[in-house]
Amino acid sequence: MARVLYPGSFDPLHVGHVDIIEQASRLFGEVVIAILHNPEKHGGVFTVEQRTQLIHGALADAAFARPVKYEVHAYPGLAVDAAKAAGADFIVKGLRNSGDFEIEQQMAHTNFAVAGVPTVYLPCSPGLASVSSRFVREIAQYGGDPSSMVPANVAMALKEMFS
Ligand code: PNS
Repeated sequence: MARVLYPGSFDPLHVGHVDIIEQASRLFGEVVIAILHNPEKHGGVFTVEQRTQLIHGALADAAFARPVKYEVHAYPGLAVDAAKAAGADFIVKGLRNSGDFEIEQQMAHTNFAVAGVPTVYLPCSPGLASVSSRFVREIAQYGGDPSSMVPANVAMALKEMFS
């Protein structure tokens, strides 16, 4: 079994992230969910602490078919440094479409070239290709209802933040 790093902004966690966490756990074993952030600026909707709590809450509530082994940590800076700090064997990224592939391929090549850390891609499950944190944030900010795209505790937190 491997220990893998699943890095992202998670601002906020959405159902596509939960899908990749479940797939990665089933395929590899232990998933370290890494909230990557720049400590000098907080430009997001939720703080790193709030994102951490929301991930823990959502995964505790999730109805997984099999137990999912995960940790949640926040790291400043580079994904490869987070992978090393977490003792991860490789990085896992979810792919929704060819646009994701273009971006991720560049990052994967760079991360391997500079630090020897490999990346494995997982395709998102059917029906989740249009889910994105940016769309979730935009919908919530303008008073829409993003609840089909996020776990229930995240939907509640967004409602509290923007109502
Ligand atoms: O959830 P996101 O915003 O798609 O996550 C993107 C993230 C944070 C995983 C990506 O931007 C990243 O790896 N950032 C860390 C900075 C880094 O390692 N840069 C070098 C990549 S080649």
